[in-house]
Amino acid sequence: MNQDRVESLAQFHPFTRLNKLLEGVQSGGGNTPLLLSLGEPQFQPPSFATDAIANAKEMWAKYPPTLGNAEFRNAVRNWLVRRYGIEPGFVDPERMIVPVSGTREALFHIALSAVARGAPKGKGKVLMANPFYHTYAGAAVVAGGEPAFLPAGPETSFLPDPDAVPADLLREAAMVYLCSPANPQGSVASAEFWQRWLKLARQYDFLIAADECYAEIYTDAPPPGAIEAAQASGSCDNLLVFHSLSKRSSAPGMRSGFVAGDARYISRQAQLINYGGVAVPLPVLAASTLLWSDEEHVTANRVRYQASFDLAEKALGPIFGKVKPGGGFFLWLDVGDGEKAALELWRQAAIKVLPGGYMARVDATGRNPGAPYIRVALVYEPAQLAGALERMAGVLKSLVDAGGHKLASARGR
Ligand SMILES: Cc1ncc(COP(=O)(O)O)c(C=O)c1O
Repeated sequence: MNQDRVESLAQFHPFTRLNKLLEGVQSGGGNTPLLLSLGEPQFQPPSFATDAIANAKEMWAKYPPTLGNAEFRNAVRNWLVRRYGIEPGFVDPERMIVPVSGTREALFHIALSAVARGAPKGKGKVLMANPFYHTYAGAAVVAGGEPAFLPAGPETSFLPDPDAVPADLLREAAMVYLCSPANPQGSVASAEFWQRWLKLARQYDFLIAADECYAEIYTDAPPPGAIEAAQASGSCDNLLVFHSLSKRSSAPGMRSGFVAGDARYISRQAQLINYGGVAVPLPVLAASTLLWSDEEHVTANRVRYQASFDLAEKALGPIFGKVKPGGGFFLWLDVGDGEKAALELWRQAAIKVLPGGYMARVDATGRNPGAPYIRVALVYEPAQLAGALERMAGVLKSLVDAGGHKLASARGR
């Protein structure tokens, strides 16, 4: 069966499936429900950003230019210089940066242009890790391409191994989505990983869409960026990087991000926005310019996530081993049967989590590599999470004691 066709998108949408799983199931334990299923930070963006939107109110009367304005693009270029140590001249803000109304939308659009370009030449495959962020597969099939899933479990350190991809598949590839820090696994790509993929992308002429929307949330060192590897190679050819304010600045409702990289693909992305996309409204662009120029709120955010990871380690570490992700804010826990665990966490403790199988597809061996896992989004204030994580530990432990499964996290044993 072709698992990924336009008509089956609803069947595979992770949250549609979760709603169905929990339909009619009473949330239990007398606890207030806590939604750790969705990666939506439950914090407020800094007030200077919302003030900037209010202060730019006369701009609601203007159509926003597709490429935004120079202030925004310069703020983004300066952030790339600060964050990744690239040379200021490496990314031309006029030709190599476009603001986008959410990276989900931009990640979707890019498949339309990459597949339209590749398919007539027999290059209609869209590569992605398995498990993966659901938009990638949706974009691939709507674009008329064909998703191709790459193993990204414990055997490849939870990232798709470039050296393991068959040459035939690389030849047929229009593009690959690569996510670091990865959703859902929390794995962080090394500089070498990006270099190896870049080399293949140029050799086989496909695009890398580097989804780095969790780049600012990490536990140890800042995750290396794909753009650093591009600079080391001398150009941004075949690479686009996707960055967002949704996680960095806790502003998912603003729908603000940017795409940077290969000027040829940036101009195609801009054309798609011209015809049928949403340019970022000028008041939002004004706020976004300030947010990309400020690090203080981002550091404070990281401290808060760190406190949540520490709580998770305390509650779940004794049964799973190390649970802290390398980056991002998800726990990716091997519980044996992710659906059963999600059901029981809801029924017994009013905690909603996402079964890992809903973020993956059945692979060549006939198994769904996400099925043993649950994804837990640590997106509430640490004080709200503390009790929930203890309750979660209790439910999961009793499931294991009953089923005899050996628990593990993506970072643990
Ligand atoms: C891996 C990944 N990429 C992209 C996005 C989209 O983020 P946004 O559209 O809010 O920028 C998300 C959101 O959850 C995500 O998890």
